[in-house]
Amino acid sequence: MAHPNIALIKYWGKRDEEWVLPAADSLSLTLDVFPTTTGVRLAPQAAGDRVLLGGQEATGPAQARVADFLHLVRELAGRREPAVVDSRNTVPTGAGLASSASGFAALAVAAAAAYGLAADPAALSRLARRGSGSACRSLFGGFAQWHAALDAGGGAAADRVSLAEPVPAAAGLEVALVIVVVNAGPKAVSSRAAMRRTVATSPLYRPWVASSVQDLTQMRAALAAGDLNAVGEITERNALGMHATMLAARPAVRYLAPASLTALDAVLALRERGLAAYATMDAGPNVKVLCAAGQASQVAAALREAVPQASVVVARPGPGARLVAGDGR
Ligand code: PMV
Repeated sequence: MAHPNIALIKYWGKRDEEWVLPAADSLSLTLDVFPTTTGVRLAPQAAGDRVLLGGQEATGPAQARVADFLHLVRELAGRREPAVVDSRNTVPTGAGLASSASGFAALAVAAAAAYGLAADPAALSRLARRGSGSACRSLFGGFAQWHAALDAGGGAAADRVSLAEPVPAAAGLEVALVIVVVNAGPKAVSSRAAMRRTVATSPLYRPWVASSVQDLTQMRAALAAGDLNAVGEITERNALGMHATMLAARPAVRYLAPASLTALDAVLALRERGLAAYATMDAGPNVKVLCAAGQASQVAAALREAVPQASVVVARPGPGARLVAGDGR
C-alpha cells in the first residue's frame, strides 16, 4: 500500500527516458490521504499478466504499462511467471493528483514481495522510479528528495543511485496540504508527453531547471529551520515556474483552468489576511495549498467558499509505502 506525494520542488523532464532519470532533483511531501492498495499474485498457468484497476479488467496502454513494469521485476528476479495485479486507488486517476506515484510505489512493493526481490526501501525506490518517476518518493513518509544523480551520468550507472531519501525537517514544522479538487477528470495530455514536449520545445525550460536547483538548496535549509513562510514561497514559485515552462512549450501545455486561478486568488487573499498559505499545482487543474496544520480548517473553509464547485480535502504528512497483510490477493 502506498500514499501519493506532492512535490514542493517539481520533477519536470527526463534526461533519460528509458531509465527514467530526471533533469534535476525534486522534493516532495507524502500525504495521509488517497492511498492505493495493490495485490500481486503469481499465476504460473496464465497466458499473460492480468491487471484489475478498481475491480475492472484493464486493457490497452493501462494494462501494458503495468505488464512492462512486471516484466522489469521478473528480469531482476530471474523469474518468468505471469501475475494478476489487483489495484485499488482512492484518488481519481490521471487528474494530477499523483495517482501514478501511489500506484507504482504500491506496485513496486507488492511485486517485489511476490517475485522474491530484495526489498529495502532504497531498492524499492529505484524500482518504483522505473514505473513513474515521482513514485520513487512515495517509498518514504513525510518529506523526501529524489536524487537526479547527474554525477553518475546516465544508463545503468545512474540507475543505481537515482532514488529518493527522506529529508529531515524541524520538529516544530507542522504542515497540512489542503487539496482543492476542481476537476477529477483525466487530463488531456499525459505528464509523460507534456514533459517530453516541454523539454524539446520550451525556451523557458533550461532556465527553470537552473532555478529549481537553487530552489532545492533553499528548500532544504527552510525545512531544517522550520520556516513555513520560506518553504511556502519556494514551493509556490517553483510550481508557477514549472507551469510557465509548459505554457511556453510549442504547442503550449496548459493544465490550469479558470477555477485553478480562482483558487490561487483565494490563496493570495489568505496571505493578505496574515495566514501562511501557498499553492502548488501539478499536471492537472487541481490546486494544493500548503499551510500550518493548525490553520488547515480555516484555509479549507476559505477555499470551499471561493471555489464552491470544488471538493476540498485536508491532508497531513503520511507514511511511506509498505507491505500490508493481504497484499498477495
Ligand atoms: O511521475 P510522473 O511521470 O507522473 O510525473 C509527475 C510530475 C509532477 O507531478 C507534475 C511533478 C512531480 O514532481 O511530482
